[in-house]
Amino acid sequence: MAKNLNCLISAGPTREWIDPVRFISNPSSGKMGYALAKEAKKRGFVVNLVTGPVSIKAVDGITVKQVETAEEMRIAMIENYDTADLVLMCAAVSDHRPKFKWHQKKKKIEFPKNIEMIPNEDILEQLGRKKKKFQTLVGFAAETENGAQNALMKLKKKNLDWIALNDVSNSSIGFNSDFNEITLFSSGGKIAKLAFSSKEELATQMFELILK
Ligand code: CTP
Repeated sequence: MAKNLNCLISAGPTREWIDPVRFISNPSSGKMGYALAKEAKKRGFVVNLVTGPVSIKAVDGITVKQVETAEEMRIAMIENYDTADLVLMCAAVSDHRPKFKWHQKKKKIEFPKNIEMIPNEDILEQLGRKKKKFQTLVGFAAETENGAQNALMKLKKKNLDWIALNDVSNSSIGFNSDFNEITLFSSGGKIAKLAFSSKEELATQMFELILK
């Protein structure tokens, strides 16, 4: 049991607002992140979950911080990072946001043909730069092609201990499904294929591997 150890998890999508009634987001359901939070709790961790907007009920005994934008998620992750022993960055963070947010609803006839986008900070990369010896940092890679190659690049670039590769081109797994298939890569060169299973089962298997 991981008594007195802290686990920080992010889950779900972020929303980047264009005006008060429109935003840019992605189809992440938050199911994987919430399954990981439940598993961490079961194993005795003190769990902090930072979540984008999802329709899943929070788990008893877990501290939940609800956020919307990538910047709000970044601030919440940084706030809880220094005391976290294990960090699982499972959220599908929007890479970009509109440069301007209109404070009034844009009328149909005024709606711009192009929306200028600017990059959001990479939260995980920032956590990787601040990582201390006692911390284990785990990221996810959502890929539609060259999965292993891209996941390994992210593992290195973001200074991670593990990365979980998701094939998001297959709609029976990943994003909004109850099921998934994951390949885990460690910075030490380990590779583990976790076969098609429920997200709960995959969360159990991920914890077994990572805590070994
Ligand atoms: N991530 C993050 N902050 C961002 C973008 C991504 O923390 N602004 C994290 C995700 O939560 C995930 C990992 O980085 O754990 C990889 O995210 P992914 O979307 O697969 O890749 P990106 O780094 O955004 O790169 P690309 O979109 O080019 O594949």
